[in-house]
Amino acid sequence: MAEVNSLKKCWHPVAYRDQVTDKPYGVKLLDEHLVIWRSSDGGVHAMKDLCIHRGTALSLGWVSEDNLVCPYHGWRYNTKGNCVAIPQSTSQTIPAKACIKNYTSDERYGLIWVALEEPTYPLPEIPEFESGQWKNVNTGPFVWKSDASRQVENFTDFGHFPWVHPGLLGDVERPVVPDYFVETKQHILHYTVVRPEAPNSEDFPVFANEQAVEPERRSRYELHLPYTIVLRLGWGGQKGMVYFFASQPVSKNQCIGYCIIGRNYDFDQPDNVLQQFEDTIFCQDQRIVESQRPEQVPFDLADELHLKFDAVAIAYRKAMRDQGLNLF
Ligand code: FES
Ligand SMILES: [Fe+2]
Repeated sequence: MAEVNSLKKCWHPVAYRDQVTDKPYGVKLLDEHLVIWRSSDGGVHAMKDLCIHRGTALSLGWVSEDNLVCPYHGWRYNTKGNCVAIPQSTSQTIPAKACIKNYTSDERYGLIWVALEEPTYPLPEIPEFESGQWKNVNTGPFVWKSDASRQVENFTDFGHFPWVHPGLLGDVERPVVPDYFVETKQHILHYTVVRPEAPNSEDFPVFANEQAVEPERRSRYELHLPYTIVLRLGWGGQKGMVYFFASQPVSKNQCIGYCIIGRNYDFDQPDNVLQQFEDTIFCQDQRIVESQRPEQVPFDLADELHLKFDAVAIAYRKAMRDQGLNLF
């Protein structure tokens, strides 16, 4: 029988790199409580946040000599999750059961990634981020009371720009979504659109469209199922921008979006210009998306009304179902 795919077999972001130090950090992923911590060699460890002794959250503990110490009775776990010291016991042997589950983790693009089971797909490749020629700015994280599928879908939705972000991302006078074509290759949706955008605003001069009267942007998308997007923006010249967005499925109806923006221009602009810009944009989206019902994207196409310009939404629903990722 073919192996059943699931969200547990996918990489998910759980923190920005800087959030994980030698101080244990508690996160939730797909309803599972995890503790993330760093050992002295810089390695990141992701483990079940539950001491085998009495079920205490290990994220309340601390790291000592590369061991994770439980705050309740001081049991110590090594980087593999094996208990190596039980202070209350005079016995030299430690029961084999005294261990905690260790999950696969990785550190890439300034994020910490975890897969609860062996991941089916690799992380996206973003050569721009590894070329040393681009400057990246971390924005967010954006904590929403919505399903990760809704947060991702909102990021890909073309029709809402003039209505939810007038003057910042869209122009109410030019609401028509140009034709585009979605190509689905296994777990990745590819599509490109040249669409009208708002002129660069005075408050947030973050884009490279300064000359045009009716500016347009070329947006080349890769939507990596289930919740990751690589968006490359251009304005016809050398200046380029990469939006890397990934949503952490915390729980059904709770997610955290990480948005890393890379540019090959405006290196001197203070990071907080982009950060405040994205705070504004995501705040405009949040109230809309948190109001959507049902909370999770309905993967049955008959449940909603789709029009031609919703081709991404349609392809996303089909691909999520085909890849077996539609069940939380
Ligand atoms: S609960 Fe962790 S050591 Fe007792
Ligand atoms: Fe939006």
